[in-house]
Parts: sequence; C-alpha cells; structure tokens
Amino acid sequence: MKQRNWILVAALAVVGGTTIGCGQQEGVAAAPLSEAAQRGQVVYNGVCIACHNTNPALDGALGPGNAHASRELVEAKVVRGEYPPGYTPKRPSRAMPAFPHLADKVDDLTAWLTECCPAK
Ligand code: HEC
Repeated sequence: MKQRNWILVAALAVVGGTTIGCGQQEGVAAAPLSEAAQRGQVVYNGVCIACHNTNPALDGALGPGNAHASRELVEAKVVRGEYPPGYTPKRPSRAMPAFPHLADKVDDLTAWLTECCPAK
C-alpha cells in the first residue's frame, strides 16, 4: 500500500475513536444526560455491567433489565441486598451481592437508570 493510503487509514482511525469516545451508546437514549446520570453511568459501567446489560433496558448475562428502577429499589438492592416492602422482584434468585460502599452513589445510579432509556 502506498504511504498516502496509510495516512488515510490513520486519519479514519482517529475520527472513529473520537466518535466512539463521545459517551453515547448504541441503543441508549440520545438526549443529553444530566451530570448525575453521567456519574451514575460511570459507576454502572464499572460495577453493574459485570452482570447487567450495558443498556439498562435489556436483560444482562445474569441480571435483569434495570431501566426506570426507583430510587427506593436501587437503594434497597444495591446498598442492603433487599427489596422495598411490597416490591415483587423480577427474579426469585439471590445472586446479586450488596454494595454498601455505593450508598453515596444511589442518587447518581437512579438518575442514570431514569435517563438512560425511553419510558416504556
Ligand atoms: C454479580 C452480578 C451482579 C452485579 C455485579 C450487580 N447485579 Fe443487580 N442483579 C443481579 C441479579 C442476578 C439480579 C436478580 C436478583 C438476584 O439474584 O439478586 C439483580 C437484580 C437487580 C435489581 C432488581 C431488579 C428488579 O426489579 O427486580 C436492581 C435494581 C439491580 N440489580 C441493580 C444493580 C446495580 C445498580 C448494580 C451495580 C451497582 C448491580 N445491580 C450489580 C446481579 C448483579
């Protein structure tokens, strides 16, 4: 390949990388996220997608979809490994560990799970 073609390939790689890095994910709402939701997304992608889908509207490898989970549900399940009184869990299993150290991230996680996905 001529050197000019290599330069073109390198330029396209840079443009492609910028597009991928801009924060929006395929299948996830295109509306701009609040700062809280952006912080929540970072936590979600760092911790939760080990089991849940990157797109919270969809089921993941182990965990069910979480889009529009209430703050009460997020706090109970994430911080204490429980469900709010009267809530019917999507799954009967008890596979998800509690993450008490994420207590101060509940608002951010809830914002992400609210803003991530179109309402059903
Ligand atoms: C080790 C795998 C795993 C990780 C990591 C994990 N979850 Fe889960 N999650 C599950 C599974 C499996 C369920 C289904 C109930 C169960 O088995 O505990 C669940 C259920 C839930 C539910 C309840 C869904 C419903 O409506 O019944 C919420 C909310 C939730 N997870 C949020 C989170 C958030 C937020 C994080 C990250 C802080 C997270 N999970 C991390 C596996 C996981």
